[in-house]
Amino acid sequence: MYNRFSFTIAQLRAAKAGATRANEVGQEAWIARTRTVRELLGKTFLRDGLCLKVFAAPEIDQKEQLWGGTTIGEATRIQNLFAIHGLAPRVFGVGTLNEEFPVQVVEYAKGSGKPDISRAEKVAAKYNIGIRQLSESEPTRKAYLARPEKWVGGKLVDFGRFFFQNRKALEARLRGHVARYHKKMKGRADTKIGYQPCPELRVEGKRDIDWRWKKMGLDRLDLTGKRVLDLGCNQGAFTRLLERQGAPRVVGVDHKFISGNRELANYLGDWRCDFVQTSLPKGRGDIAKRTGIEQFDLVMSLSVLGHMGGYANWFPRLVAPGGVVYFEGQGSDNRSTYQKVLMRDFAQVEWMGEITDHGVHPLWRLTKGA
Ligand SMILES: C[S@@+](CC[C@H](N)C(=O)[O-])C[C@H]1O[C@@H](n2cnc3c(N)ncnc32)[C@H](O)[C@@H]1O
Repeated sequence: MYNRFSFTIAQLRAAKAGATRANEVGQEAWIARTRTVRELLGKTFLRDGLCLKVFAAPEIDQKEQLWGGTTIGEATRIQNLFAIHGLAPRVFGVGTLNEEFPVQVVEYAKGSGKPDISRAEKVAAKYNIGIRQLSESEPTRKAYLARPEKWVGGKLVDFGRFFFQNRKALEARLRGHVARYHKKMKGRADTKIGYQPCPELRVEGKRDIDWRWKKMGLDRLDLTGKRVLDLGCNQGAFTRLLERQGAPRVVGVDHKFISGNRELANYLGDWRCDFVQTSLPKGRGDIAKRTGIEQFDLVMSLSVLGHMGGYANWFPRLVAPGGVVYFEGQGSDNRSTYQKVLMRDFAQVEWMGEITDHGVHPLWRLTKGA
């Protein structure tokens, strides 16, 4: 989602003055974090500790969002790979300020952490990340990464010259993450497909995500301000779509796939997705521990509860008052399987018909009482 921020001239002046006082005006960007900015970001992104990085230097092409020979989008994907490894502040979105300055919505880096140059070098090597215009004084990537001014509070903060040296290899890595099943197709070689497809990387899947998405009517939901949980998220196809539908917080939980899901969502630009690796029902406390969210406004429980010890009290407790659940059964579940417990625990139990893309599964839309 592209974010459009609009400040009055007075707000812009106050933010710039604050940045100057905090010594946070760099050559290419400055940090906006007045109380107004922090409150706006907190309300929109439902997270604390965010700031706006405002790109405002003559050498930054505002229209194309070019930054030091890369684009802000590519630099953001790279920054978030470092963030996944704890080496950079995480970026939750990009956009423009007053339709003029490119911005990133980013964690504010502070503290006294020390740079870990050898780990940063390992991360750069793992994803084939290069740095443009290396100079004689810093002839190698490692030497560039060692520059103290590139680090704040133990986090790398300047990605202006970073670029993917081998996008093909990176995409192949992500494709490998999604495609795990073998499928023999008539007249074609044995192909690998995913359980969930990933059309952006041209990977087919066993399940028809588009059809299920529309069958549930999710394309018509307004998710502004909503906290969303995708239980048993698999490779995060629904997690990412829910983020694109506008949810500020979407948490995908699974006992597998999580580190690959983080890389994939980042590469596809779905930067507000969080992923939690835990096994349910035992690890249910981990969701709140890792995200700070105890109850969700929307819970997706699609073909998963049977794997998680079946329906039990912990499940409706994850739903906030007035919250909604899309609940798809699995295996031999049918309309009567859950009807009684659902009527007991939810104020509205709406039968939505059968999901038929992969066997036949019952589907309900549930609403928790206020
Ligand atoms: C049948 S798939 C459904 C995936 C997705 N919800 C969908 O409908 O497209 C079940 C998912 O639940 C995950 N899973 C199975 N048992 C689990 C457990 N005990 N805790 C967390 N995740 C689990 C699996 O790894 C898998 O991704």
